[in-house]
Amino acid sequence: MALPSFQLWLALLLLAAVCASAMHPRKLTRLGGLKRLTTSKSSSDLPPEYEIHHYRQTLDHFNYKPESYATFQQRYILNYKYWGGANTSSPIFVYTGEEGEVTDDVETFIIALAARFKGLLLYIEHRYYGESMPFGSENQAFQNSSTLGYLSSEQALADYAQVIVHVKKNLSAENCPAIAVGASYGGMLASWFRIKYPHIVIGALASSSPILYFDDITPQDGYDVVVTKDFKETSESCYNTIKQSWSEIDRVAAEPNGLTTLSNLFNTCSPLTTSQELKDYLGFMYEDSAQYDNPPDYPVQNTCRGIDGAPEGTDILGRIVAGLSSLNSSGSCQDILSYELSKPDAWDWQTCTEIVMPMGRGNETMFEAEPFDMEDYTKECVDDFGVVPRLHWITTEFGGHDIKTVLGNFASNIIFSNGLRDPFSIGGVLEDISDSVVAVYTEQGAHCLDIDVPTPDDPDWLVAQRDKEIKIIAAWIAEYYAKLSAK
Ligand SMILES: *[C@@H]1O[C@H](CO)[C@@H](O)[C@H](O)[C@H]1NC(C)=O
Ligand SMILES: *[C@@H]1O[C@H](CO)[C@@H](O)[C@H](O)[C@H]1NC(C)=O
Ligand SMILES: *[C@@H]1O[C@H](CO)[C@@H](O)[C@H](O)[C@H]1NC(C)=O
Ligand SMILES: *[C@@H]1O[C@H](CO)[C@@H](O)[C@H](O)[C@H]1NC(C)=O
Ligand SMILES: *[C@@H]1O[C@H](CO)[C@@H](O)[C@H](O)[C@H]1NC(C)=O
Repeated sequence: MALPSFQLWLALLLLAAVCASAMHPRKLTRLGGLKRLTTSKSSSDLPPEYEIHHYRQTLDHFNYKPESYATFQQRYILNYKYWGGANTSSPIFVYTGEEGEVTDDVETFIIALAARFKGLLLYIEHRYYGESMPFGSENQAFQNSSTLGYLSSEQALADYAQVIVHVKKNLSAENCPAIAVGASYGGMLASWFRIKYPHIVIGALASSSPILYFDDITPQDGYDVVVTKDFKETSESCYNTIKQSWSEIDRVAAEPNGLTTLSNLFNTCSPLTTSQELKDYLGFMYEDSAQYDNPPDYPVQNTCRGIDGAPEGTDILGRIVAGLSSLNSSGSCQDILSYELSKPDAWDWQTCTEIVMPMGRGNETMFEAEPFDMEDYTKECVDDFGVVPRLHWITTEFGGHDIKTVLGNFASNIIFSNGLRDPFSIGGVLEDISDSVVAVYTEQGAHCLDIDVPTPDDPDWLVAQRDKEIKIIAAWIAEYYAKLSAK
């Protein structure tokens, strides 16, 4: 996809204005985002023990057409600080990169694992993200579906396989057990990697990975049912205020100069053109708050503190404004349109091809009903990329239906970790599948919390969750060594 021309932008703007009342539910996956919260780091911010490497990666692992032989430079990072070395068959912890810069993944729980088990740290960047761009540059890579066509989770998994094999060979570390660790989409990749490449990793830790939010396995409104539960549990009155606010927004919008009134009341950076813009924005704010409802800030509590704590007599919309400002007290304007007009990116390509998570809002939630609409979803993908999504491909390729029987029968050594306040947890594995394919979750945790670097301020339940994960991984490694020495 080329950068949109000015004319195209104008057309998009007009289209957005026209279509705003029928906002695509797909925006839930696009913009609610399936992402770990990270702070952006460049490679120069990394401590010196992190070595940046590049691997000459095959563009297309699954084809022998001449153009498939092309290669690109894939970035990966090694850190030997904790490693016991190949002679002691010390483990290798492999971070399976997600949709972002690999440098953002460095400071994660994986460091604690390496320290604990004398592990080598290996972080691999996902193709088409960060610096791992096929065709030499982002502009070239994003031209159109011919160049984006090599962006898929299968290609990414094959990349990881090649890099791990390469690194092991280079270090004569063939006997060192490797363990995949990932979070969110990267956690899905970690668990799928263990299933598809059991000869390369002995186990996987998949944090906050909704591998069951495909097809009809998870109810489409599941995500927002959890968001609603998070708010309702935090404060019933807060929940009620939010639930009543949508019709109140429409009522004010319908008054003379109503949109101007709303724009001023909510201090929007640009004037509202529809009330839907505002409702979408608020919806995403509540969803993000729930997804990342992490200590020490607990944004859901913060929002509700603002909403409930407004002075006596404050009306519904006044309370919503108070909720917003307690979420972000910077005093700057609300950038409503940032959610509407972001240009299609690599993740959008993935959601328009394989990663189709059917998410809609049901009328049992605190939101207005907005069911998933595959026709709308498809139309947007055709418009953005000229492709039609493969709705059933993920479960065909990786499974998901009747997972308990299927994985129970053949899989081993996977931890699915979750925090139940994370709305994506509804599409996660929350039940032990077998002795070694297990669910480790906390009631209070949110999205990918366990994969953050441990700190002294962590609540006990989080410490306990990570301890449990460490114990399970220790058993995998012990079993591996037992079999190795019996050879
Ligand atoms: C590892 O083993 C090899 C071969 O036995 C030996 O040459 C080398 O010195 C050992 N390295 C370390 C760090 O012990
Ligand atoms: C994509 O762009 C390249 C280079 O401009 C062109 O050769 C190719 O035909 C285009 N493919 C599609 C599907 O438009
Ligand atoms: C291969 O291993 C050597 C050390 O044995 C190291 O200096 C080099 O950077 C490694 N190369 C790659 C590509 O990992
Ligand atoms: C608050 O808003 C400012 C300006 O829009 C933004 O840069 C900042 O990241 C926001 N902070 C939070 C916590 O959302
Ligand atoms: C909610 O949706 C269900 C199923 O579509 C419908 O039967 C029910 O009447 C709706 N309830 C409300 C309150 O709109």
